[in-house]
Amino acid sequence: MTKILSPTPDNVELVAQVLGQGGIAAIPTETVYGLAGLALHPEALAHIFDSKERPHFDPLIVHIPTLWKSLAALDEANLVDSKMLGPLAKKRADLLIHELWPGPLTLVLPKNALVPDICTSGLPTVALRMPRHPLTQRLLELLGQPLAAPSANRFGRISPTSAKDVLSELDGRIQYILDGGKCEIGVESTVIAIAPDGTVTLLRPGGTPIEAIEALLEIPLVRQERVSTHAPEAPGMIESHYAPRKPLILLSAPVLELSDLPETLQPGTLQSRFASGKIGLLVASGNKSQSALKLQELCGSPVIARSLCAADWNAAEASRNLFSQMRFLDEFDIDLIVAEPCPGPSAKDGLGFAIMDRLTRAAAPRNAPMEDLPEAPIEKKAEKKTGLKKKAK
Ligand code: TXA
Ligand code: MG
Repeated sequence: MTKILSPTPDNVELVAQVLGQGGIAAIPTETVYGLAGLALHPEALAHIFDSKERPHFDPLIVHIPTLWKSLAALDEANLVDSKMLGPLAKKRADLLIHELWPGPLTLVLPKNALVPDICTSGLPTVALRMPRHPLTQRLLELLGQPLAAPSANRFGRISPTSAKDVLSELDGRIQYILDGGKCEIGVESTVIAIAPDGTVTLLRPGGTPIEAIEALLEIPLVRQERVSTHAPEAPGMIESHYAPRKPLILLSAPVLELSDLPETLQPGTLQSRFASGKIGLLVASGNKSQSALKLQELCGSPVIARSLCAADWNAAEASRNLFSQMRFLDEFDIDLIVAEPCPGPSAKDGLGFAIMDRLTRAAAPRNAPMEDLPEAPIEKKAEKKTGLKKKAK
C-alpha cells in the first residue's frame, strides 16, 4: 500500500497535490526524512500524530520556503508574532536566519495565533526551519504554504535517513514516500529557542554545530537539563528518544582502548541476561574486525560489527551513517548493541556532540519496558549481506 516514488517532476507534483489537499506524505530533507502535512491544517496534523503514534504533547517543526528568509517574512506569513520579542531577540533571530538558513537549524519563536494548537502542542511558541534539500524546497515552492514535518519514524524510534528506512517504519500507514536518496547530514536539526529578552537556549544539538551559532551571536548558548520522563514543558529533551528496539550500551572508550568491561558486558552477566548474548558493535572508526575480535575475547560472546566511518574518524561521515548503522544492527539477530563513543575531543563539538547526544539517549533507560514497544517489520536485505541469520518473528 505504501509506495516509494522516484523524484521525477511528475512525482514531486503528485506529492505536492496530495499535501495541498490536506493529505500527508514522507519527504526527504538534508537531515532525516520527515512525515509532512500542511502546518495550518489541523486535520493533516492529527493524521501525522496518528500515523507516528506520537503523543500530542510533542510539538512539530514547521518547514518554510526559502522566500521567507527574515523575521518580517515569518510575521507576514502568520507564523511568528515578533511583537512579543524585544530588540535583542529580533536582532539575534534575524542574524541566525540570514546566516544559517536554509540548513539544519530550527528556531523556536513566539507563535502567531493562526498556528494551530495541535502543531505546537498548545505551547505559545512555534518551531521553524528552512530546509535546504532541493526536493523539500521544490515542494514548499509548489505549495506556497508551510509544511509541518516530524521525523518519519514511529515515536521514540530511530529517525529514517533513506526512503527504505521510512518504509520499514511506516509501511501501510501512509500512501507515498518521496525518494530523495540518502540524507546528507543524517541527524536531525539543531533546535534553539529565542526568548523575548534575547536569551538563546539549546533544546537539541543537531546538524548545525553549536559553535557556529555561538560564534555568530558572540554568546554561549544556555544549556537545558535533559528530563527522563515525558515532560510537556521540555518536549525536545526527553531522554529516551531515538532508541533502537534492542538495548544499547554506550562504552566510555573505543574497544581497542578498553581495559575494563562495563558490568552488563562481563562474561556471565551477559549470558545470564540474554539468551544468546550476541552483540552488535557500532565502531566509531578504524579497523572494525579488530575491534569485534577484541570485544569477543573480552566478553566471550559472538560479535558482529558495523562502522560509522570507513577508515579514519570523520564526523560528517559518522553522522551520515549513524542512524542507518544503528537500524541495521537493530534488525539483526543480536541481543544488544554496544556503541563506541566519538573519539577524544570530537565527542564535545560539532557533529560529534550531536552524535553523542543521540547515542546517550539511545542508551538511556527506556520509559516503556522493551516488551511493550511495537514491533517493526524486518528488513530482508541485511541477512544476505553479512550471512548472519535474522531472528524469525
Ligand atoms: O531535522 C529535523 O528537525 C527533522 C526534519 C524532518 O526536519 N525533524 C524533526 O522533527 O526532527 P521531530 O518532530 O522529530 O523533532 C522536533 C523537535 C522535538 O523534540 C520537539 O519536541 C521540538 O522539536 N519542538 C518542536 N516545537 C517546539 C517548541 N515550540 N518548543 C520546544 N521544542 C519544540
Ligand atoms: Mg523525531
